[in-house]
Amino acid sequence: MAAGFFISKTVGIAAIVLGLGAVATIIALSVVYAQEKNKTDPGTANTTTAAPPTTAAPNNPWNRWRLPTTLMPESYEVTLQPFLTPDDNGMYIFKGNSSVVFVCVEATNLILIHSNKLNYTLQGSFHTSLQAVDGSSVPRISNTWLETPTQYLVVQLDGQLQQGQRYRLVSSFVGELADDLAGFYRSEYVDDFGDKKVVATTQMQATDARKAFPCFDEPAMKANFTVTLIYPLNHTAISNMPAKNTWQQEIDGKTWNVTEFQTTPKMSTYLLAFIVSQFDNVQNTSEEVLIRIWGRPKAISEGQGDYALQVTGPILNFFERHYNTPYPLPKSDQVGLPDFNAGAMENWGLVTYRENSLLFDKAYSSISNKERVVTVIAHELAHQWFGNLVTLQWWNDLWLNEGFASYVEYLGADSAEPSWNIKDLMVLNELYTVMATDALTTSHPLSFREDEINTPAQISEVFDSIAYSKGASVLRMLSNFLTENVFKDGLQSYLHTFAYGNTVYLDLWSHLQEAVGRNNVQLPDSISNIMDRWTLQMGFPVVTVNTLTGTVNQSHFLLDPTSKVERPSTFNYTWIIPITWMTDKNSGEQYWLTKVSETNDQFKVKSPSWLLLNLNVSGYFRVNYNQENWEQLLSQLSNDHEVIPVINRAQIIDDAFNLARAKYVNVTLALSTTRFLSNETAYMPWEAALNNLNYFQLMFDRSEVFGVMTKYIQKQVLPLFYYYKNITNGWANIPEGLMDQYNEINAISTACSYGIAECQDLSTTYFHQWQLNVTNNPIPPNLRSSIYCSIVATGGEEAWDFIWERFKEATIVSEADKLRTALSCSTHPWILNRYLQYTLDPNKIRKQDATATINSIASNVVGQPLAWDFIRGNWRMLFTQYGGGSFSFSRLILSVTQRFSTEFELQQLEQFKEDNQDIGFGSGTRALEQALERTRTNINWVKENQDTVLSWFKAETESS
Ligand SMILES: *[C@@H]1O[C@H](CO)[C@@H](O)[C@H](O)[C@H]1NC(C)=O
Ligand SMILES: *[C@@H]1O[C@H](CO)[C@@H](O)[C@H](O)[C@H]1NC(C)=O
Ligand SMILES: *[C@@H]1O[C@H](CO)[C@@H](O)[C@H](O)[C@H]1NC(C)=O
Ligand SMILES: *[C@@H]1O[C@H](CO)[C@@H](O)[C@H](O)[C@H]1NC(C)=O
Ligand SMILES: [Zn+2]
Repeated sequence: MAAGFFISKTVGIAAIVLGLGAVATIIALSVVYAQEKNKTDPGTANTTTAAPPTTAAPNNPWNRWRLPTTLMPESYEVTLQPFLTPDDNGMYIFKGNSSVVFVCVEATNLILIHSNKLNYTLQGSFHTSLQAVDGSSVPRISNTWLETPTQYLVVQLDGQLQQGQRYRLVSSFVGELADDLAGFYRSEYVDDFGDKKVVATTQMQATDARKAFPCFDEPAMKANFTVTLIYPLNHTAISNMPAKNTWQQEIDGKTWNVTEFQTTPKMSTYLLAFIVSQFDNVQNTSEEVLIRIWGRPKAISEGQGDYALQVTGPILNFFERHYNTPYPLPKSDQVGLPDFNAGAMENWGLVTYRENSLLFDKAYSSISNKERVVTVIAHELAHQWFGNLVTLQWWNDLWLNEGFASYVEYLGADSAEPSWNIKDLMVLNELYTVMATDALTTSHPLSFREDEINTPAQISEVFDSIAYSKGASVLRMLSNFLTENVFKDGLQSYLHTFAYGNTVYLDLWSHLQEAVGRNNVQLPDSISNIMDRWTLQMGFPVVTVNTLTGTVNQSHFLLDPTSKVERPSTFNYTWIIPITWMTDKNSGEQYWLTKVSETNDQFKVKSPSWLLLNLNVSGYFRVNYNQENWEQLLSQLSNDHEVIPVINRAQIIDDAFNLARAKYVNVTLALSTTRFLSNETAYMPWEAALNNLNYFQLMFDRSEVFGVMTKYIQKQVLPLFYYYKNITNGWANIPEGLMDQYNEINAISTACSYGIAECQDLSTTYFHQWQLNVTNNPIPPNLRSSIYCSIVATGGEEAWDFIWERFKEATIVSEADKLRTALSCSTHPWILNRYLQYTLDPNKIRKQDATATINSIASNVVGQPLAWDFIRGNWRMLFTQYGGGSFSFSRLILSVTQRFSTEFELQQLEQFKEDNQDIGFGSGTRALEQALERTRTNINWVKENQDTVLSWFKAETESS
């Protein structure tokens, strides 16, 4: 899946019982049944029992979460018929018939196959039957039941299946086509004529293929799949493979279209996909691969699929070269869905997206929308080989799958947009983002043991920023010290060796090790030993160098130096660290720090020279220096900052602020790294500074400090504001280059939110122009997020209502997202409270956007206490709706508590934890612990630094 958004399953809502209506409609399946019945050999039977034996001991195979290894699936034939209109009970359903051929690896009298929320009973009997593929006789089915807690269909036999024999299990079932964004589900939208349209689509990862049909739902249980869809006329059906045959069939007095798709290569269940819709597409062909971009007909006719189409071919070609392996399938479909919980899902040959991650509208979408589209596409296409062709054995190694895709997405995007320097952004977007989490004692190692991850909830919890962003960061470091070509060499042999199979992360290390041998790379230790330090223990080091003595040492970097690390590590929290470096005179060879402390004479540097470690932040660590060297770096920044590479200008700021939070350096040193910004126009340093000053804002925007802090930021940002005003000819032109466009946005949003009058006047002017001609939005797309927010913040009810109206009528999702987020910028508590209530009403705010909306209200200083009250007041409901998934839910807790910095707030949080023990915190459990830890840290930090910070800002603003 794409980083940023993750599955959040709707849990807690009991499987809706299929009533009489379902039984009646199941008759329509009689055609399929009749065929099946004829095939049924005398050895099979439908039994009437539907309950586990009462003698069930607690540790039966069906009480365990993992499948036994007695049976291995080989191929499936799955026929599904979604009904896009509700049945007599007002329920949307689908009917299915599926058969699976499996080999018996070890004699057994038990068939366990995953099944969740599917109903198999027809007139009281279970519709499952068993045959031997070679026609020989098979044991009778003695008992069949659904083991709901562990999500199995259990079939007990009165004799043994024979080792080496192939069997076919056939079953018919009915499921609900719910709007729960999981398994086979429905998404709805309103077309141009105001008619509601229903789309039947899928999201199987991680454990929901079992919600669409009975299957051995583990990633290592690969098989060939032949999918057949039965669907209403005038609709289109697509799946992982191209259609093989389409015909019409009369079922229950109605004509349906039926499409049988080509058989897939061997693949995992979580990568299956099928969609029935009235979507349109744009298409082309790249090196004989058919590429289609699908979406709502209006979106496609407006050209919103064109950008995705334009970049997909080049990205596929890039990965074919990168992996030295042709694209494994005959076609590549990508679909933008109105309701989709993850950012995107890499289903093999049929990738699904949130609309905002695939569709791009030139007139409405900003450069960051465009960047999102190209990086998410690159991420998902990277998985088509790494993840889909070669798949990790089990979810404990998810970090390698997601970390890898999150790394190479930057390479793929760079190949499509070579002028953007997009690879640089990894440092801000992945490294520094995840370091904030990984510097806590509540972090966790990248790698889990296989037996640590069992339940669907545990599986969904591993989809976190550690897996994605830390995974990406350590792989980037590995690729950097091996060099990209050696890394590719090992990667290619790994893919060739394991195509259509499964691996563990050590398989990649051993193929990289062979490449190291082939290419004569000198390393201080084996890849596996070096990487174990980064993957088997949590956290990362801070490397401290003293330029007076040349000593360099490492220690575990903890944001709160008083916190206690309880998780043991076999490496005692030491790392083998690849260090790149430069001085004002030269740049040196890579240095390996393998001990806790070493001395390297090359690191002895006399002032006014300076030493800089970790060039382009290719290593996943922070750097601290002796005071003298810090001062030399600061003076270089104020004299001629461009001597220091741009990524390292951002690094100096980000490291200094984080070191100050962890008390390695004085907070005034951190603040001093922002002085040179009055001469800086580059994006990366500005972004690093704004991210870090955001922490000061969160800690102080309810205190006296905020007044002088505002003055200081105004003073620093004003030159940047005028710089962009000037080069854009009064905001009329778009700056060249991605980074410049981003920094223009920073200039506007900082200037407007910190009260620069000229900026707020600009937003008011735009607003009035827009009011006069509602259909003609005068605001340049890049500036919209900031300007909308300023309009709502400075305007009252009228402005809010105006933006709300625009939100309701927005047909472009990225535009709707901007408007929706801006609505949380209001400064009126009653407006924000009303808006919070709207998040409970799916007709006002789509379910997929509810938690994000609450989060943005919580990030507003006025909205934060309201959101906190709201979350406490509605916890049971929020938990039921969103608690099963992971990211969006844990973010809810993190964002509402991010300002917490007083004893009183800590008490409230502890009380909240206590009060809701009975309901629980689901995938937000770890987030809650992190929030408690962070609050305690904040309390100390504010106590210790408030006076110093206040006087520093005062001095800076008075001296000019
Ligand atoms: C399918 O489309 C055709 C032509 O647009 C129309 O005449 C027909 O009624 C439609 N069929 C259904 C079942 O909607
Ligand atoms: C449905 O079947 C009819 C007749 O075979 C065919 O003309 C039509 O194209 C089919 N629809 C799709 C989406 O394949
Ligand atoms: C099953 O997949 C393999 C590739 O893993 C392929 O070689 C084989 O042809 C497929 N079988 C069928 C029946 O398509
Ligand atoms: C930190 O900086 C402040 C202000 O310059 C100074 O008063 C204080 O002594 C410094 N603390 C340390 C530990 O250097
Ligand atoms: Zn992914």
